Amino acid sequence: MLKTFSGFVLLTASMTIMAQTPTFDNDAKTFRLDGGDVSYVFGVNPRGELQQLYWGGRLAATDHFPQAAPMPEWASFDTSYTNTPQEYAGWGNGLYNEPSLKITFADGNRDLVLHYESHKVTERGFDIVLKDIKTAIFVTLHYSIDPDSGILARSAIIENKESQPVTIEQAAAAAWAVPPGHYTMNYLTGRWAGEWTLTQEPIHPGARIIESCRGSTGHQANPWFAIQSGDPDENHGEVWFGALAWSGSWRITVEQDQLDSVRITGGFNPFDFGYVLKPGESLETPVFYGGYAAHGLGEASRILHHFEIAHVLPHRIGEGDTAAPKPRPVIYNSWEATEMNVTEAGQEALAEKVAALGIDRFVMDDGWFGQRKTDHAGLGDWYVNTEKFPHGLKPLIDKVHSLGMDFGLWVEPEMVNPDSDLYRKHPDWVLNFPGRPRTEQRNQLVLNLARPDVRAYVYGFLDKLLTENDIAFLKWDYNRNWSEPGWDQLPPAEQKKVYVEFTRNLYSILAELKTKHPKVELESCSGGGGRVDLGILQYADEVWPSDNTDPFDRLTQQDGFTYVYTPQVMMAWVTDSPHWLNKRTTSLEYRMLSSMQGSLGIGANIAKWSDEEAATAKRLIAAYHQVQPTIVQGNLYRLISPRNGSEFSATQTVNRDKSQSVVFLFIHSTQEGRIFPRLKLQGLDPAAQYALTPIEDKPSPTTPTTASGAWWMNRGLDMSEDFRGDYQAAAFRLDRK
Ligand code: DGJ
Repeated sequence: MLKTFSGFVLLTASMTIMAQTPTFDNDAKTFRLDGGDVSYVFGVNPRGELQQLYWGGRLAATDHFPQAAPMPEWASFDTSYTNTPQEYAGWGNGLYNEPSLKITFADGNRDLVLHYESHKVTERGFDIVLKDIKTAIFVTLHYSIDPDSGILARSAIIENKESQPVTIEQAAAAAWAVPPGHYTMNYLTGRWAGEWTLTQEPIHPGARIIESCRGSTGHQANPWFAIQSGDPDENHGEVWFGALAWSGSWRITVEQDQLDSVRITGGFNPFDFGYVLKPGESLETPVFYGGYAAHGLGEASRILHHFEIAHVLPHRIGEGDTAAPKPRPVIYNSWEATEMNVTEAGQEALAEKVAALGIDRFVMDDGWFGQRKTDHAGLGDWYVNTEKFPHGLKPLIDKVHSLGMDFGLWVEPEMVNPDSDLYRKHPDWVLNFPGRPRTEQRNQLVLNLARPDVRAYVYGFLDKLLTENDIAFLKWDYNRNWSEPGWDQLPPAEQKKVYVEFTRNLYSILAELKTKHPKVELESCSGGGGRVDLGILQYADEVWPSDNTDPFDRLTQQDGFTYVYTPQVMMAWVTDSPHWLNKRTTSLEYRMLSSMQGSLGIGANIAKWSDEEAATAKRLIAAYHQVQPTIVQGNLYRLISPRNGSEFSATQTVNRDKSQSVVFLFIHSTQEGRIFPRLKLQGLDPAAQYALTPIEDKPSPTTPTTASGAWWMNRGLDMSEDFRGDYQAAAFRLDRK
């Protein structure tokens, strides 16, 4: 940009005029948001509906949209109302696509048609008020855009200003639309010990639903979607993606509509939903984040990762613009070593061995409380078991501190075993339908956290635990899904509010604990990755992606996980070999390098380790500490995917100023003598020189040890012939000279 003598600014031909965001065009009745490389535009059409106009690459400030024109009807079968991509459509007026809002009124009316009423410009977006054409149902739509990533945050508040109660049967956070085209849908599916499978399929006419009806996020699907134009591709093609910030039952519907455009609607799961709004009451939906990337799924995940780091996760270091999540301490967790057989002497002995490895945090898992010997008893009784810890937790905590580590503890606050003092005293505190069976899973029932007395109990015991003990970290577990979700304190018509109030109370407990005990960090675990979403990640510093710690399975799981979530939150423990789940034998080096792609932990029974194994772990933990910020907060490139039985896989991360990069390479099993394919790196500064150093020094490259970024990206890294075999791993760092 050049400043002329007259003080005006000249623009060269290649420069784009950037719009001030947000902008409202009063003549055309259009709203426009710009952020990062993204523009999002919608407007009020002549009928008064809020209609989507554009979502994609950033437009110039001079680009102008005329007033939104509704889509025509398609013969007498598809009305203009249903064909028009609305930002938030009420169910009524002949809508055959997924509605954003469906309401039953006190008089039996179920028709709802939302029209624009007013709006307010906010710092980064708009608050837009819609109103039903006949009744006093108001919906305020919140829009804001992140200026760096172009990620939009959308949510809705539904307000009843009628004189009678209404029942909300379906409430989305937002609806998105993508123009007609050939698309691939990407989403994540799984099961316990098999989470994070990237599922990819062409989008066909009709609806594809991904959801949880289980009361919590679930292992079986994760609240994220990515729609890619054309076939799936890591580096090319437009991608529209979104993630719901909600840890209760959720649903995302992706439908190719009758005129071939694609609509995505997501929010509370309407299954078994029914939220009664009395006059004057309102319901706020979760936030549905949405983003756009012009260059494939890889770019889409990098945008999301940086957004999570900058705007979602708890910030523990820095202030203002430099505030960031703290790279996770390298932890030791006792679960796979001692299960519930935890004792003061046993844990102290383990802690001594652990400290010698250079570990930062010692976490004692399940088994320390109540009458907890097996999973049949104890949940709910959050007092220290004095048989196992005769003097309370203090001696162990002191010992851990004296060894230079901080101390973390396992809890499962929302659950109760019928064999517990808590359940004997308060059998009415669990989710249940009176007189019906109470289905146990892992011998436990779910406390109804929506109840004020249960909320008070859960907050109370956690506050006491954290006040009386020097605890740096809680691993917050949740080991079953809901059944019989009754809340018999409320009148029958209102009981389904449990789907909202339970999760809201969970968040409010976490928020209150964070205020009272600001230094305490948190892991969200639900028998592995059953509660990972952008809602819980406002409070949780990390998550436990899976109980499956097999290092080979983890490669695919970690690959899937990173489509949505940053490696910063991806805890990965090194455990014993042969692995308990697959009976697979792998070297400690392979296990370490698999785990070092995320936030590293050790969960093995290290009491049984040889001196040589301990030395290997110590060396690699020290190497990890040196490059950890690059791995967990840098730009991630999935160079070769381990999916679909791939013989090879590789990942690379580059830090933000491109001064360091870390590369991991894995061989599943060499076939026909093939050596590792030449690996072209990404994201480096082409003009800079980078020195390559092995992190794990056994397999060696044949390329020079110092070369330009251009060399590493164009010529690539060649591995020597000795890098062959089954379950082989190598890792390198590149440092700018
Ligand atoms: C399930 C978790 O995923 C495990 O890591 C462990 O904490 C057990 N629960 C303890 O019961």
